[in-house]
Order: sequence, then C-alpha cells, then structure tokens
Amino acid sequence: MSTATTTTTTSPGPGRPLRPSSDAAVFGPDQLEELVDCFRTNGFAVLRGLLTEDELAAIDEQCAAAQAALGRGELDERHGTTVLIDDELAGSVAVANYVSYVSDLSPAVAAAVTHPGVLPAIRAILGDDCWLMDQRQFGFVYQDARPGRESAYTRIGWHADWQSAPHLDLWPSVALTIHLDGTSPANGFLRLLPGSQRWSTPTPYRNVNDAEIPEGSVASAGWTDEPAPFEMPLAFEPIAGEIPLYAERGDLLLHDAYLWHAAARGTDDETRRRHVRGHWCTGEPLHTDDGRFVKNAAR
Ligand SMILES: [Fe+2]
Repeated sequence: MSTATTTTTTSPGPGRPLRPSSDAAVFGPDQLEELVDCFRTNGFAVLRGLLTEDELAAIDEQCAAAQAALGRGELDERHGTTVLIDDELAGSVAVANYVSYVSDLSPAVAAAVTHPGVLPAIRAILGDDCWLMDQRQFGFVYQDARPGRESAYTRIGWHADWQSAPHLDLWPSVALTIHLDGTSPANGFLRLLPGSQRWSTPTPYRNVNDAEIPEGSVASAGWTDEPAPFEMPLAFEPIAGEIPLYAERGDLLLHDAYLWHAAARGTDDETRRRHVRGHWCTGEPLHTDDGRFVKNAAR
C-alpha cells in the first residue's frame, strides 16, 4: 500500500500560524487562579461554565419582562435612563435597549452578579473591600444591542470604562458581563486591546461627543504610570494588536475598567446581542441626596 502526497500552493508552511485570539482567556470554574493571572496580564478574562442553563433562562425571562414593562411605561424612571427610540418604519414599535438597576428587578441577575463562583476572582483583583455598584450610577444594566434601524444601541467606540467618570473615586474596577447571547460578526462583538489597562491613559479631553469633562477629573489613569504609547482612537479605527472577543451564551466576562475596548456593530439586522453588565468597584464615593456622585475629597 502506498500513500500519496500532494503539494499545492495552499499547503501550510512550516511556521506556527499566528492566532491573535481571545480563546486563551477562557477559563472554567476551577481555574480562578489562572483566570486572575490572565486578567492581570491582559485586562480581561472569561469564566465559562459557571451559570447553569436554568439560571440563564431565569435571567432571560426576568430581563425580558423588565424590558417589556419599561416599554409600557410601567417602571420607575430610574430603570429607563435611556431614550426609547421609535422605529420610523414600524410606527409604534419602541425598543428599550437598556434597563438600568436591573438587579432590583431580576433576582436571577442579583444572584449571578454576586455568585460565589466568581467572587473570589473579583476579590483577588480588587481586594476584599470592593463593592457591587448595584444602586449607584446605573447599577447593573440589561443591554439589548441590535443592529437594526429601530435600535439606539448598535456599537460603541473606543473607550475605557473609567473615562465615564474620571472625577469619581470608583477605580480600579472590574466590569462583569453576563452574556445571554453568544457574540459574532453577525450580532456584534467586543474589540479589546490586551495589556492596555496598564497604561496611564489620558482623560479624554477630546472626544467625539464633545462631552464635558467633569470638574475634579484626574489627568490620566491606569495600573501603572507608563504613558499610553499612542492616542486612543476617537471612534472605531483599527488598532494594531486588538483582538475580537467571541463570547458564548452564559460566559461571564471580567474586564478591567482601564482596558481599551470597543463594540463592533453586527452585520445581520435580524440579530440581537443581549447581556447584563455592571461593575465591582473600589474607593469610597460619596453621593448626594439625589443619587449623584461627588468626589471624595479626602482620598
Ligand atoms: Fe465599556
């Protein structure tokens, strides 16, 4: 018996293929130490296999109910911080892309974001004094991203989460995301720049929205004093070294509030990208009677 070999112009070369990928950042519930190491090095890590399908189904159901109630105007104003966008084509259809403080409305979300299977990792990163931001700013938010025209939430430009409040004493912090839909180019996905959490990134004194920089903001922040080697892009530009994160349903993503990231819009208008996201924080922020934060001048 003989074996035939063929050589074609598409045969693999001798070197190792380049695989810039988020796959190596995925860990199981019994790999928290490795997960924390990955997080410290890269600024993010994925915990896969912690939440059961029953737990996910409860989150689905309770978040969908909250979203529908918000759409009907039945919820307190604090849950609807974003504008309801009327679909011009469909007339009366309204989509609430976000439900704020959703852990108050969904016991399943409240349980998941404090799950004893993920807390040791969060405490290892932030310390035992870290606290769940479930009652401040927007709390944990159910996010229903859709590429379609009725949607106000389709994609997000480059940012680091701490830049949303550079005047507040919340950082460092870990953003915790429960993925309810797997992500892909079809329904959109996160773009991450591994290691960028270590740079001291300037507060965005120039940005696409011309948002006002709050008084008392720090000039820059990150895990080290090393300046960012280049300016953060203003919108969706490519960055050398960025990688896509393709999540699976049920994945818990931990990402650093100093990490540079963006979200790519899906290519299929019929899809959705649903997740719940909020923060575990450090620091001791004060807040006023109406719930706004103020800088804690003592720190
Ligand atoms: Fe973000």
